[in-house]
Amino acid sequence: MTFLVLLGAPGAGKGTQAPILADRLRLPHVATGDLFRSAVLEGSAVGLEARQYMERGQLVPDSITVKMLLDRLAQPDASVGAILDGFPRNLAQADILASALADRHSQVDVALEIEVPEEELVRRLSGRWICKANGHVYNERSHPPRVPGICDLDDSPLIQRDDDRSETIAARLAAQLAALGDVVDYYRQRGLLRTIDGRRPVTEVTDALLAAARAES
Ligand code: AP5
Repeated sequence: MTFLVLLGAPGAGKGTQAPILADRLRLPHVATGDLFRSAVLEGSAVGLEARQYMERGQLVPDSITVKMLLDRLAQPDASVGAILDGFPRNLAQADILASALADRHSQVDVALEIEVPEEELVRRLSGRWICKANGHVYNERSHPPRVPGICDLDDSPLIQRDDDRSETIAARLAAQLAALGDVVDYYRQRGLLRTIDGRRPVTEVTDALLAAARAES
């Protein structure tokens, strides 16, 4: 079993990199943000509650988030491990993850932090478009689609996330960066943290993440 935690501020590139790492390392990509967005689209009770927090740029309460994550990790494809994108987001989640994995005689093998300066995060989030069908990620500056407004991979329309409005971007960064710092320190203290310079082009960031992951797992 291999569990990799992908850390980074909103817009650092976790959702861009995680599917590539998942493919290359043959591990499922488990993203709490994607699970919440699916729940919102389904209109489930979890989705309705999570939406109130996501729209304000705040973390969804642990009582909802942890159950959703543990249910996902109980699915058969996660018996080999997972790439965790967006979890843990605070110290309580980091502790719960450690004990849930210990129950499976496993542990976090490495925490990969993608580090990007705040002004670049704002630029990236305000230029992000995702495809409606599968969430494939684009950027109007660094990674535009071949046909404007259409996904290269599945032809579905590109939309902006509700939480990529400029006022929500500021709120997300203000509300979430301190907790991210706590989680980064948590893994640093345990000798599990590897920090990657996320300002470089996507392919170079991928290579650096893969090298760090393969050295540890
Ligand atoms: P989530 O979906 O996890 O959002 P996030 O962490 O805010 O991260 P983003 O998806 O915004 O950014 P990213 O790092 O994936 O960047 P991306 O690859 O898209 O969470 C959404 C919400 O759900 C949270 O706010 C919270 O409310 C809730 N939530 C989720 N998990 C939770 C938890 N554990 N606990 C409580 N609440 C939780 O890239 C961004 C842009 O940059 C794209 O346009 C991309 O094309 C571009 N880009 C990427 N890499 C590069 C590069 N190297 N160079 C240039 N451009 C690049």
